[in-house]
Amino acid sequence: MKLAPSILAADFARLGEQVSEAERAGADRIHVDVMDGHFVPNISMGAPIVKSLRQVTHLPLETHLMISDPDFFFDEFAKAGSDSFIVHWEGNNNLHRTIQRAKTLGKRVGVAINPATPASVLEEILPGLDLVLVMTVNPGFGHQHFIDSTLAKIRGVRRMIEQMKSDCELELDGGIDPATARLGVAAGADVLVAGSSIFGEHDGVEAAMNRLRAAIRAQSITRKEFYASRNCHRSRRLRFEGGVDGSTPWRRPRGH
Ligand code: DX5
Ligand code: ZN
Repeated sequence: MKLAPSILAADFARLGEQVSEAERAGADRIHVDVMDGHFVPNISMGAPIVKSLRQVTHLPLETHLMISDPDFFFDEFAKAGSDSFIVHWEGNNNLHRTIQRAKTLGKRVGVAINPATPASVLEEILPGLDLVLVMTVNPGFGHQHFIDSTLAKIRGVRRMIEQMKSDCELELDGGIDPATARLGVAAGADVLVAGSSIFGEHDGVEAAMNRLRAAIRAQSITRKEFYASRNCHRSRRLRFEGGVDGSTPWRRPRGH
């Protein structure tokens, strides 16, 4: 199982330092969330961040493009140092062409599907993909609550990958904490993106990553354990989610 820390939850004043901490703690790749305020109701970061990160880490930089017309930005991100692109199925009328364009740049390519999108839309394109990203929250904000109904879809995508004998990775993004990580991996995920549960914890990046790994290693989770953990996170998350309306900042307030 691989971990992809999402820098959306990092302290941007110490971004290089936090990414180095994640690298030292054994992160497999760095997940960069790009939002344009149009495809999703939030604005985050662009190619200059990738360019700066390229100077401080050897880890692959995975670029999650939550933007309209991602093809227009491939060259810029490739030049900045992105190693892979994740584009959304939603809103793309020429997805096959988009995938081919990313491949001609020599990049790994993944397709993301939102919580309301069924796994079946992947049938025709999966054989050519390096990765499928199942969004376990609606894209646009960090620190949201994992949507439980996506678990059945994760199992479905895993079956599809196996039936097609593909080596495509299955990655989850959103609301991953020790409890949901365990559920997601049990459902078939092999890569987990985590923002708040890595960069938002009081005891540092390494401790947070170790907690995620330990949770996944544990054989099973009891229902009681799961809800105990969820209730604890829910109270913190709700305080933030209450105001998610497009005007809410994408990082939770300090101390929450
Ligand atoms: C959400 C982003 C995620 C986000 C996850 O639109 O794609 O990558 O950073 O953040 P957490 O782990 O806080 O849910
Ligand atoms: Zn993401």
